[in-house]
Amino acid sequence: MLAAAEHKSLNARFTTQPAGEILRWASDRFGPRAAIGTSFQGAGLVMLHLAKQSGLSFPVFTLDTGLLFPETLELKRRLEDFFGLAIEGLAPDLTVEQQAHIHGPELWARQPDLCCTARKVLPLRDKLLDLDCWITGLRREQSDTRSGTGIVEVYVFDEASGREVVKLNPMAAWSRDAVWQYIKDHRIPYNPLHDRGYRSIGCWPCTRPIAEGDNERAGRWTGFQKVECGIHTFMPKKLDFQI
Ligand code: ADX
Repeated sequence: MLAAAEHKSLNARFTTQPAGEILRWASDRFGPRAAIGTSFQGAGLVMLHLAKQSGLSFPVFTLDTGLLFPETLELKRRLEDFFGLAIEGLAPDLTVEQQAHIHGPELWARQPDLCCTARKVLPLRDKLLDLDCWITGLRREQSDTRSGTGIVEVYVFDEASGREVVKLNPMAAWSRDAVWQYIKDHRIPYNPLHDRGYRSIGCWPCTRPIAEGDNERAGRWTGFQKVECGIHTFMPKKLDFQI
């Protein structure tokens, strides 16, 4: 999909290009097979706005785990109005109730990796089968695990078949301050939980507000060693558990 030499030269070129230009490249290269995946946090909102300003209309999707905060679901509707677009919600195979029936209640509290795999990783894998380019809002500054994020990456999302997509992270170099300045300048609707101490917002059972000075992602999976849900780090080759 991307030869090694092109991959390297694109990353060099994109280092000095604004995010809007990077999005334009994705649109020209992949057309509707490039899609923005967003959880409606800062960087995703900026990308939606930059795309619209540049006249680019990407498909947009969100992994609707069934455990999103009501505020997040309400924001999805507000953003659809604000940007005039439909955001596809991708649901897992099992409802939360069905999952509880099979795995017991509150799987997230006992086996958060299994819960994230069922509710985020596998639905994303299914979606990526229809795409050539997955556009994310990852930023290097978010955490140590993200400090090496490239603007263009080749992402093997199914090792068994070797299926891969271009993973594009146009916001990789943006600071948190720059993201929030942009959102304020353009009056983009944002998640009200951000004003209540929440920095990184995922599913309600595994997201907490944090203290000033904490790492941006400190409020995720508190009490576990876990720092990533898995969509950026782990695409299971073969599941060793039943979903
Ligand atoms: S994560 O740990 O939940 O994956 P984070 O919330 O920091 O990480 O989001 C980083 C990027 O992952 C987002 O900008 C978005 O591209 C993608 N992402 C995270 N959660 C979702 C989601 N629920 N739906 C779609 N994309 C998501």
